[in-house]
Amino acid sequence: CRYPVRVTERTLVLIKPDGVRRGLIGDIIKRIEDKGLSLVALELKTVTTELAEGHYAEHADKPFFGSLLEFITSGPVVAAVIEGPRAVAAWRQLAGGTDPVAKAVPGTIRGDYGLETQENLVHGSDSPESAAREIALWFPGLDR
Ligand code: TYD
Ligand code: MG
Repeated sequence: CRYPVRVTERTLVLIKPDGVRRGLIGDIIKRIEDKGLSLVALELKTVTTELAEGHYAEHADKPFFGSLLEFITSGPVVAAVIEGPRAVAAWRQLAGGTDPVAKAVPGTIRGDYGLETQENLVHGSDSPESAAREIALWFPGLDR
């Protein structure tokens, strides 16, 4: 068969500064591993404004953009690439909806630990195309 046999996907994980400050790195990584997803890359990173602007470029004209940049650069983040079948959707499922109270349900990371939309603990790429762009941005040396 000449079709590609790869059924796995990769996606970008960020544990945002609130998650790092609150000591939730281990709990969040545990949920990723419990789900059966594999770590491909993992790094504690200080986020420059330039990286933050690139990462959130799609939100550049939103009213919350300035505040979002200030927050995401307010302390170190954990950046990771994870891999597995339907990894993009699987990680968004574990994260929960953007608003930790109105959208995320208990059992999800945002639903269990979050109260405010900005400080919602984690980031996950929203599509395989976004994942490819974001992984190249955060881990330029990573093979594909
Ligand atoms: P978005 O990409 O819509 O959410 P998600 O992280 O679930 O993909 O927005 C990016 C981040 O911007 C979001 O995680 C938190 C922040 N944000 C706000 O602060 N206020 C808002 O009204 C929205 C929609 C997002
Ligand atoms: Mg998003």
